Amino acid sequence: MKKDSAYLLAKKQNHQKIVALTAYDYPTALLQDRAGVDVIFVGDSVGTNILGYDSEQEVTMDDIVHHLKAVRRGTSQAYILADLPYASYETPKQALENARKLLANGADIIKLEGVREEIVKHLIKHDINVCGHLGLLPQTQQQKKVQGKSFEQAKELIEGALTLERIGISVLLLELIPEELGQIITEKVSIPTIGIGSGRFTDGQVLIVNDILGITPRKLKLATKYQDYQTLTLQAIEQYKQEVEQKIFPSDENVQHMVQEELQNFIQ
Ligand code: KIV
Ligand code: NA
Repeated sequence: MKKDSAYLLAKKQNHQKIVALTAYDYPTALLQDRAGVDVIFVGDSVGTNILGYDSEQEVTMDDIVHHLKAVRRGTSQAYILADLPYASYETPKQALENARKLLANGADIIKLEGVREEIVKHLIKHDINVCGHLGLLPQTQQQKKVQGKSFEQAKELIEGALTLERIGISVLLLELIPEELGQIITEKVSIPTIGIGSGRFTDGQVLIVNDILGITPRKLKLATKYQDYQTLTLQAIEQYKQEVEQKIFPSDENVQHMVQEELQNFIQ
């Protein structure tokens, strides 16, 4: 069964956690889908995590579409969320065009950063499922600093969440805010919240898959590394290199042979 926004809402109402991860390619999406991940995020985190960009601002619509299509091919059950990248939703018209493009290429819902009332209203009027994104907004805040620690800031984020809910978003992503604020917002809104670095009480959790697998070499307080991809992969590549150099690979198991009768023709 394909998961939808009603499924996520039911999970919130039943106090079951929503499990989300980013994915950027077909094999990773296949495994996440098989494991029962609820939401796969094709985020603009693809830029710094996969494409070697310096900033989220370099990510284009074409980048997102390319990776989204690969993820879609690997997914049969998970709900697919795609980011509208930086500067792709400057006007209501541009936002709608780009959102439709993401939906046409496999997204079930699109996400955009901040409280962009006019844009979000326009998308929802045209039946686009929208996920809000509050707290740290990487497209415009280069410095990865916790947001909403002061009462004033926290109040502004709560108001932003309520505004977006009133306009009609179906999911709210909360990035890098204090656990207390994650809990307050989650209790105040009736739509599901998904947190990254926002404590234990959001309705769901999302992480960048590179961080749980140890693909991107960094230590983050907000993530647990469940696998050491870098070490294991480097070991495998080094072993392959050695075996080619030492003529261990390919072995007889890896090669094809001609039958004797055919080979004979060369010898005559
Ligand atoms: O870009 C991204 O992957 C995201 C999630 C981590 C929230 O926005
Ligand atoms: Na993002």
